[in-house]
Amino acid sequence: MIKGKAIVMSGIRPTGFLHLGNYFGAIQNYVKLQESYTCYFMVADLHALTTHPDTKTLNDNVHRVLAENIACGIDPEKAALYCQSHVRETAELYLYLNMLAYLGELEKTTTFKEKARLQPDNINAGLLTYPVLQAADIILHRATWVPVGKDQEQHLEMARNYVKRFNHRYGEIFPEPMAYNFGEDLVKVPSLDGEGKMSKSENQLATLYLADTDELITKKVMKAKTDGGPTSPGMPKPDYIENIFQLMKLVCDQNAIDHFEEAYQNCNIRYGDLKKQLADDMVKFISPIREKAESIQNDKKYLSQVMEMGAIKANASAAETMSLVRAAMGLNY
Ligand code: TYM
Repeated sequence: MIKGKAIVMSGIRPTGFLHLGNYFGAIQNYVKLQESYTCYFMVADLHALTTHPDTKTLNDNVHRVLAENIACGIDPEKAALYCQSHVRETAELYLYLNMLAYLGELEKTTTFKEKARLQPDNINAGLLTYPVLQAADIILHRATWVPVGKDQEQHLEMARNYVKRFNHRYGEIFPEPMAYNFGEDLVKVPSLDGEGKMSKSENQLATLYLADTDELITKKVMKAKTDGGPTSPGMPKPDYIENIFQLMKLVCDQNAIDHFEEAYQNCNIRYGDLKKQLADDMVKFISPIREKAESIQNDKKYLSQVMEMGAIKANASAAETMSLVRAAMGLNY
């Protein structure tokens, strides 16, 4: 559990609509943490450039991520909700950290290998040093707790390595940041097709977005893969059925889960009913967020004020850290 005056930092790329994975892996915890800690939550627009170099839709995407964060419960008065490119010191710290990051380890990063496979014609240096930029975002605020989903674990481990190297070479400036989920394992929200996880830009028919209409949510859930059902009592669940149960745990009440669990164990489960229950509860969960986000997103003036207010808080913290960094590095002549 967090003790004392912990600083919390996290970010989301504006590369598409936010989905249930973003909510349960990250935003849900932002909302809890903002009540008691100094929080910096950021729209990672610079990171988005590593995979989405066309900036025509960036403005809309940044506004939508902000609106969706607020609709999920982020209070811009409590947390600093800001845009990465509004904090110029990020680029400076990223540069210094790049001298402490080695090619071999960057090339081995899982997300780099995945993205390089997906965009073989654009394996740019920004993609390679993506975890270095992420480390800069975090340690710019000397944050210790980073609420993220399971897919970010390796990036956090790399951030700790850069911190250790910096502190060793130039003096103890940074605490080591840790991925945070209130002492629980980090969350991975699976996709509806049982293959991989929900994602902003891949696997769209198997991902539930916070902007999906009620009809679309129902359609996606009802299409989730099932089979003829268990044939002997106590049979283990295949992955795609296990996924449906996992998704139920996010939004359904325990009685409903127990009912279907028992039916599965007794081999009389009706998958149509199971999916109908999940679809109804997903609609109940997502529709208020969608409606709230839509109305916030249309209020561009309010969103600009939010970004400005967030940038003021984030810049103040960044300036303080960077004066310590420059002094520690001897760049203060
Ligand atoms: P991004 O934009 O891919 O995802 C934002 C957050 O959502 C979590 N997440 C998930 N959690 C559980 N199940 C899923 N299916 C799922 N999909 C996404 C992610 O773990 C993340 O917490 N590199 C980061 C952005 C970033 C950042 C940072 C994060 C930039 N700078 C500094 C923390 C600190 C990313 O690509 O997140």
